[in-house]
Amino acid sequence: MSLYLLLNGSLLIVLLTLSGWYVWLRFSGEETYPVAWNEAKKSKRISKAVRRLERMYRDKTRFFNWWLQVERLKREKIDGDFAEMGVYKGRSAKVLHHMDPSRIFHLFDTFDGFRREDLEGESGEAATYTPIHFADTDEESVIQYINGNQNIRIHKGYFPGTEEVVRDCRFALVNMDADLYNPTHAGLEFFYSRLVPGGVMLIHDYNHKWPGIMKAVDEFAKKIPEVVAFVPDTDGTAMIIKNR
Ligand SMILES: C[S@@+](CC[C@H](N)C(=O)[O-])C[C@H]1O[C@@H](n2cnc3c(N)ncnc32)[C@H](O)[C@@H]1O
Repeated sequence: MSLYLLLNGSLLIVLLTLSGWYVWLRFSGEETYPVAWNEAKKSKRISKAVRRLERMYRDKTRFFNWWLQVERLKREKIDGDFAEMGVYKGRSAKVLHHMDPSRIFHLFDTFDGFRREDLEGESGEAATYTPIHFADTDEESVIQYINGNQNIRIHKGYFPGTEEVVRDCRFALVNMDADLYNPTHAGLEFFYSRLVPGGVMLIHDYNHKWPGIMKAVDEFAKKIPEVVAFVPDTDGTAMIIKNR
């Protein structure tokens, strides 16, 4: 083989390797992922289920904020159950459960959509809702979809009203995603006082399209010593970490 062909062949191999590497970084998103995630993945500390969920979950900022919070709770040995208010088919619940399957996870939803009285007085996106929205779900299919362990507890029904059984529980993480003022207001009142020091509450949809959520959070923020932080995920999440 001539020197010319050898050089050309080597150059081609280098170019192909570099472009393969570029494509991998570009589409795996690895260069923009949190270094903590990349490191945990490399050292095989992330379950197959969570790696799969990450690939499927479009709002990466929301996903990684959950992951960083759950990892912080583990690292700082912050005890407490997880809770979600506003479950629908279980999409966010599945991710949170698999991020820490050892936590008891309480899921609150009507599993029957919104209440008409909660929709009255709503504006923005919520004003376009009717009681049939989000009604196409049920507890069995949520449990099946989450595909987790026995730590999932379903609390079906209108909130407030289903919280009595968890009155004595303490929470390390609460995800609120009920879209409307009434349940968000009630959830903040109930869960905040049961949030352990260092525990985190996440309230989804804090943006101008959901004035009911903004109102509930802004009113509540005036009553607590913590500063509410805002996560730049797609729909905006307000985040409260309970003072120690
Ligand atoms: C946007 S969906 C939740 C989406 C879910 N977190 C996900 O990741 O797919 C809002 C849910 O809040 C529930 N919800 C709204 N008001 C409620 C109330 N007062 N009590 C219980 N559930 C309520 C609805 O039934 C609906 O399933």
